[in-house]
Amino acid sequence: MKTILTMAVVLCGTTFATAAWSKDDPAAGAQLYATHCVACHGANRAGVPPTFPALTDVAKRLDSAQIKDKIKKGGGLMPPFSQLSEQDIGNLASYLAK
Ligand code: HEC
Repeated sequence: MKTILTMAVVLCGTTFATAAWSKDDPAAGAQLYATHCVACHGANRAGVPPTFPALTDVAKRLDSAQIKDKIKKGGGLMPPFSQLSEQDIGNLASYLAK
């Protein structure tokens, strides 16, 4: 009986962890954006062109891999956000794609 219970707990834990990792969450991305990106790209993602590019239609210029790469590595005046997790970066990219 005890074994079955333990197995159930382990299985639940696995399912939860997988779900948390596999799904990008644009709402969480919006929060991360407000914390890390607003200063340069603006609250409405309009940026301050030409210095800070608008991100309103960035998904038309860059694919999701390129957006993630930019967040990780930065470039020009944009600092790299290497402290963010893959999940954070996925959430941000899904927010920007909207
Ligand atoms: C210190 C100011 C600054 C901050 C903070 C910043 N960026 Fe940027 N970002 C820039 C600049 C400047 C560029 C243009 C870089 C270039 O020309 O290579 C840029 C470019 C980009 C691009 C590519 C846009 C394009 O059209 O090519 C993306 C995507 C992007 N930033 C996303 C983000 C995200 C997401 C965050 C928050 C995690 C963020 N940035 C935070 C300054 C910033």
